[in-house]
Amino acid sequence: MPKKQQPLAIFQSLRKDAFEALDEAADFESVHKVESDYLGKKGRLTNILKSLKEMPSAERKVMGSTANALKKEIEGKIKLKKDEMKEKVSGRPTSHWIDVTVPGKKILRGHFHPLSRILREVTAIFESMGFEVAEGPEAETEYYNFDALNMPKNHPSRNLMDTFWLRRPAKAEVGAPTEASELKNKSRYLLLRTHTSPMEVRYMEKNSPPLRIIAPGRCFRYEATDATHDIQFYQLEGLMIGEKISLANLKGTLEIFFRKLFKNKNLQVRFRPSYFPFVEPGVEVDIKLDSESEWMEIAGAGMTHPEVLKNVKLNPSIWQGFAFGLGLDRIAMTKYKIDDIRLFYGGDLRFINQF
Ligand code: PHE
Repeated sequence: MPKKQQPLAIFQSLRKDAFEALDEAADFESVHKVESDYLGKKGRLTNILKSLKEMPSAERKVMGSTANALKKEIEGKIKLKKDEMKEKVSGRPTSHWIDVTVPGKKILRGHFHPLSRILREVTAIFESMGFEVAEGPEAETEYYNFDALNMPKNHPSRNLMDTFWLRRPAKAEVGAPTEASELKNKSRYLLLRTHTSPMEVRYMEKNSPPLRIIAPGRCFRYEATDATHDIQFYQLEGLMIGEKISLANLKGTLEIFFRKLFKNKNLQVRFRPSYFPFVEPGVEVDIKLDSESEWMEIAGAGMTHPEVLKNVKLNPSIWQGFAFGLGLDRIAMTKYKIDDIRLFYGGDLRFINQF
């Protein structure tokens, strides 16, 4: 060993040795060996760095900064060498190097829109109570949306629902004219259904009682929008026809339904007199979640009007029943504590992803 090597000379020979070893290294193993020989726990450069603390401070400064600079240089060279090797192995630049040990990317899973969730929940409850599901068109004729529901042309009740009218009428019924087909042909202008009640008529035309159905679907009204009104919304129609159906059955059915939906045995239902041309008597349905909360309007309902039964060739002195129309948006807003109906239709993912 030379007597006293110049401090910088130590680094020069160390650098030379390390670089030569790296140049010669032909595989990952040899590169790793150089790494541990020089930078490892007992590596040559590491030893020098460790010995710094015993040096007088002037010397330590010079040696320290040189040693650190050299460490960076060797590290850089090692990385380059590794990258080169990776490229050789994969045949691709290292920016495309695949590290198979990296944890996989989280797969984004889709989920239901809050309204779909409510719809599924509500449907499941009614199905458990023996109701069948019926679906019908969103572009409906004037006949089903109004006439058949005891709202003839020029009837003032038509003004209760501001309607989006479509330009084209539906196809006319062909064949020998009957009273019903004549009526339908007179009222075949299309509109966007303003409620799901037309499904009552459509279903009763094709199925005979006793029957109980729900008919969920999107409805439209030509209205100014605000936090509680949108031009589109979801309703769920209910209809039960039998020989001995009463208003008490209506109340019981709704009570069981709402108690199941809100998982609350103490929830109360109350009826207030109201008017809908296709029921008699007609009621507004309110629910009260608990002793602290306010009564909240949630549905329209009533006993099916004899005129509606006659329109589907049922004898009102034999058959009677109840119908109700629930606002699904209203229910979803209450259940999920949402204060603006327009959020449902805005398509804002920051909202949707909360569910
Ligand atoms: N169709 C009525 C509405 O949209 C609600 C309703 C349904 C009322 C069934 C009575 C019976 O306002």
